[in-house]
Amino acid sequence: MKRVLKWIGIVIGGLLGVIILAYGVMWAVSASRLNRTYEVTANFNLNIPTDPERIAAGEKLFTIYCESCHDANLAGELFSEDPAFGEIYSANLTGGENGISRRYSDEEIARAIWYGVKQDGSPTVGMPYEFNHGIHVGDMENLIAYLRSAPPVDTNYPPPSYGPMLRVFHTANLFPLVTAENVAMSQPPPAIVSPDDTLAYGAYLSVFCTACHGPDFTGIAIAETPSLWTAVTTWTEAEFERAITTGVLPDGRQMDPEMMPWPSFNLYTEAERHAIWAYLQSLEPVVQE
Ligand code: HEC
Ligand code: HEC
Repeated sequence: MKRVLKWIGIVIGGLLGVIILAYGVMWAVSASRLNRTYEVTANFNLNIPTDPERIAAGEKLFTIYCESCHDANLAGELFSEDPAFGEIYSANLTGGENGISRRYSDEEIARAIWYGVKQDGSPTVGMPYEFNHGIHVGDMENLIAYLRSAPPVDTNYPPPSYGPMLRVFHTANLFPLVTAENVAMSQPPPAIVSPDDTLAYGAYLSVFCTACHGPDFTGIAIAETPSLWTAVTTWTEAEFERAITTGVLPDGRQMDPEMMPWPSFNLYTEAERHAIWAYLQSLEPVVQE
C-alpha cells in the first residue's frame, strides 16, 4: 500500500513538475511575443473629411464593427476581468483625457486599426483583425472623422494585464489575439471598393462575417458559430434577409443578438445586404464531413 502511494506521489509530483515547466516556457514565449515592437513600413495617405455625410458613414461603420467593444460613447470599457484572461480595457477613442483621438495623429489611429500597432510600437491585444485590416482607405477616413467628431469622454484605465489562459491561447495560436503578428507591416491598406461593383463589394462586406463564421464560412468550432453554407445553398434570399435583419431563422427560431449581431445589420442598405448574398452565392460551397 505504502509503495503504491509513494509511486502515485512520484507520478503526480512528476506531472506537476512538467506542467509548471510547460507553463513557464509558454509564459516566456508569450511574454517575448507581447513585448516585441513593430514598425509599419507601408505608406498611405489619409484626407480626413469634415462633411456630415462622411462622418455619418463613419458612425455607421463604428456601430457595426466597433461599438460592441468600445461602447456607444466610444469611451471603451472593461473588456475582460476574468482572472484567467487578465484585466483588459478596450481603448477610449474620443478626444477626452487619455483618449486616442487626443493623443494620436490620423496616421497613428490608422496604424492601430489596420496593423494593430500602438503609438509606441507595441502590439494591440484583443482587437480583431480580419475586418479591421480590410477596411478600405475611404472607410478608414470616414471612421477617423467620426472618432474625431465624437463628444470627448475622460477615462483613466489601468494598463492591461494578461492572465494564464490568454497566454495559453496566444502561445498555441488558438485565437488571433495580436493583429501585428497576423498582418504584414509592409502591406498597403486596401484601395476603395465601389458599391456599384456588387460582387467585389459583397466580398468586402463579408470579411466581417469571417471574423465569426471562419475564413471559408464553415463556422468556428471554438466560437460555436455555425457554417453559413446551409443558408447559402438551401435558403432563399428573402429568408437570408429576414435572418440577418430580424434574427428569425426559417424554422422560426430567434437568434440571440448577443451572439449573432443581426440588429446592426439593419444599418446596411438593402443593396449592401444583397451584395453579401450575391457574393456568397458566387462562391463554390465548402462541403463539410
Ligand atoms: C472584440 C473587441 C473589439 C472590437 C470589435 C474593436 N476593438 Fe478596438 N480595442 C479592443 C481592445 C481590447 C483594445 C485594447 C488593446 C490593447 O490595449 O492592447 C482596443 C484598442 C483600440 C485602439 C487603441 C490602440 C492603441 O493604440 O492603444 C483603437 C484606435 C481601436 N481599438 C479602434 C477600434 C476600431 C475603430 C474598431 C472598429 C473598426 C475596433 N477598435 C473594434 C477591442 C476591440
Ligand atoms: C460576432 C460574431 C458574428 C458575426 C460577426 C457574424 N455572425 Fe452570423 N452568426 C453568429 C452566431 C453565434 C450564429 C448562431 C446564432 C444562433 O444560432 O442562435 C450566427 C448565425 C448566422 C446565420 C444562421 C445560420 C444558420 O444556418 O442557422 C446566418 C445566415 C448568419 N449568421 C449570417 C451572418 C452574416 C451574413 C454575417 C456578416 C454580415 C454574420 N453572420 C456575422 C455569429 C456572428
